[in-house]
Amino acid sequence: MSERPSRRAGSRPRKSAAPASAAPQAVAQPIAVSGSQSGLGLAIRQRLEASGRQVIGIDLPGKGAEVEADLSTEAGRTDAVEGVLERCDGTLAGLVANAGVDSPNAQLTFDVNFHGAVDLLEGLRPALARAGRAAAVVTVSHAVMISPGIRSAAADALLAGHGRRAALYAGRSPGAPYAVSKLALARWIRRHAATAAWAGAGISLNGVCPGAIHTPLLEKDLADPMKGRIIRAMPQPLGAIAQPSDLAGIFEFLLSPEARYIVGQLLVTDGGLESLWRGEDWPRPWSVSMPGFLLRLFGSRAVAAAKAR
Ligand SMILES: NC(=O)c1ccc[n+]([C@@H]2O[C@H](COP(=O)([O-])OP(=O)(O)OC[C@H]3O[C@@H](n4cnc5c(N)ncnc54)[C@H](O)[C@@H]3O)[C@@H](O)[C@H]2O)c1
Repeated sequence: MSERPSRRAGSRPRKSAAPASAAPQAVAQPIAVSGSQSGLGLAIRQRLEASGRQVIGIDLPGKGAEVEADLSTEAGRTDAVEGVLERCDGTLAGLVANAGVDSPNAQLTFDVNFHGAVDLLEGLRPALARAGRAAAVVTVSHAVMISPGIRSAAADALLAGHGRRAALYAGRSPGAPYAVSKLALARWIRRHAATAAWAGAGISLNGVCPGAIHTPLLEKDLADPMKGRIIRAMPQPLGAIAQPSDLAGIFEFLLSPEARYIVGQLLVTDGGLESLWRGEDWPRPWSVSMPGFLLRLFGSRAVAAAKAR
């Protein structure tokens, strides 16, 4: 997939092609997309723009995005948030936290995939809340569900801000830092989506978990002797590896008002591989006792009062 030609750095976003009078108010507000200049992010940008949405792209300097920032550094992440806020006048209809790398450098992988997404989500949350009704979609990966031996402790360490410990726990198998970064991201979504700050502020937050997609990232993985062999051997129940444009509509849907009631979910979009391998491992009944359930629902005082009666 060829990359988008560069536009002048820092140039103002283009106006939406949709006539303002015909569009509901939220449509006039922009959507920010990280990793907007290549692969899946570019396909999402193109899909949204074709629907008349204004996109504020975020990508590495020199790639031609509206906001040029290196999400692997704290300063770059601050610049990205400020750049988006400047261009959206403080109100955002949607955010796609999509930028990602699959590098053997664990720290770089954690910085871009986990901190690069979480800092955007946290920094832009007030702008999403200001829209009244908004959506945030995070590109996770089915690696969270199908990678062998990913240690929960590594993801927990990353969530707790201990990158070095996370790298140590992740181990040395190929792709382990990537899977750990995405598992931490998935857990972050589950932890926050239904809280007052997100759902309570009218923001539907979800993750999409793709399988292999034909992008420059996949080409790099295919060129790696070990990873390439594994990826090529993976079954494809649907018959073929996805093109970025095959998945862009799923993001557009999750950003739309029709998907408002989808909250805190991880939507696997891998053509059936996870379903083939994990089978009836999912859904799993919730292993909570009736007293535990009532405790959660009514609180300890109500349960004690019921017992006393
Ligand atoms: N391609 C796949 O097979 C696949 C599968 C599952 C999930 N994903 C996920 O999809 C997302 C998009 O990946 P892709 O396959 O389109 O890859 P890609 O390499 O084509 O695009 C990634 C984009 O992120 C940007 N980016 C990378 N590092 C950055 C940084 N430090 N700061 C700012 N931007 C940065 C790149 O410049 C690029 O535009 C990633 O999160 C990836 O993990 C991809």
